[in-house]
Amino acid sequence: MRRKLAAGNWKMNGTIEALDMIEDLSAAHADASCDILLCPPATLLAPAAARAGTGPVAVGGQDCHAAAKGAHTGDVSAGMLAEAGATYVIVGHSERRETYGETDVAVCAKAKAAQEIGLSAIVCLGETLTQREAGETLAVIAKQLKDSVPQGSTGATLVVAYEPIWAIGTGKIPTMEEIAEVHALLRGDLTGLLGPEGQNVRLLYGGSVKPDNAAAIFALPDVDGALVGGASLKTEDFSPIVTALKQS
Ligand code: PGA
Repeated sequence: MRRKLAAGNWKMNGTIEALDMIEDLSAAHADASCDILLCPPATLLAPAAARAGTGPVAVGGQDCHAAAKGAHTGDVSAGMLAEAGATYVIVGHSERRETYGETDVAVCAKAKAAQEIGLSAIVCLGETLTQREAGETLAVIAKQLKDSVPQGSTGATLVVAYEPIWAIGTGKIPTMEEIAEVHALLRGDLTGLLGPEGQNVRLLYGGSVKPDNAAAIFALPDVDGALVGGASLKTEDFSPIVTALKQS
């Protein structure tokens, strides 16, 4: 049985005051019937983890370097994230793939580094609008998955987030059939890559998830939660998404 996961990616947003959200979410979802994760900027991880304590909200990083340490100015290692209190890290977000030219091979190395230190890696993948319109979505996703997921990943060490690039921050989402089609492909291919363990890997949908579309997305087979950007910045947006997930 896969435990559902509502994950918030704050990107380069949020201040120390924004961490009040952790107490608000912890109080609203004390039943802990699904996993709740916030990924604030790295500078807020340690105070976020302190405020989350042993409550239902986990904290995670938004990226890590593949190396444990070294001359990598501006980067943060998976071990450093873990020391700050993170239990997850997002890798291969499309904003990083696009802005920093991160390849599937680089993303795989980051995911492996995270897993080796004991973090769960949330590996992101997704097609561009051009690829979708050319009918290439399933082929693109299958290749990204194969090349970005470390061998030996398990349900405890890997989460996969399907995020169509054209749906991120745009208010547009694929049809429910299109989301279901990609998630079915991911589930099948994960089983091919990881054997029966592929059944235990959680699959998140991401891209313009909002309180008003969350329930329909969560009702789809093989959608185990969401990776939420803009709507994870305020309790009044994110909390109803968590509630919809618990009720799904
Ligand atoms: P969005 O971002 O919810 O603002 O579309 C999702 C993401 O980038 O993970």
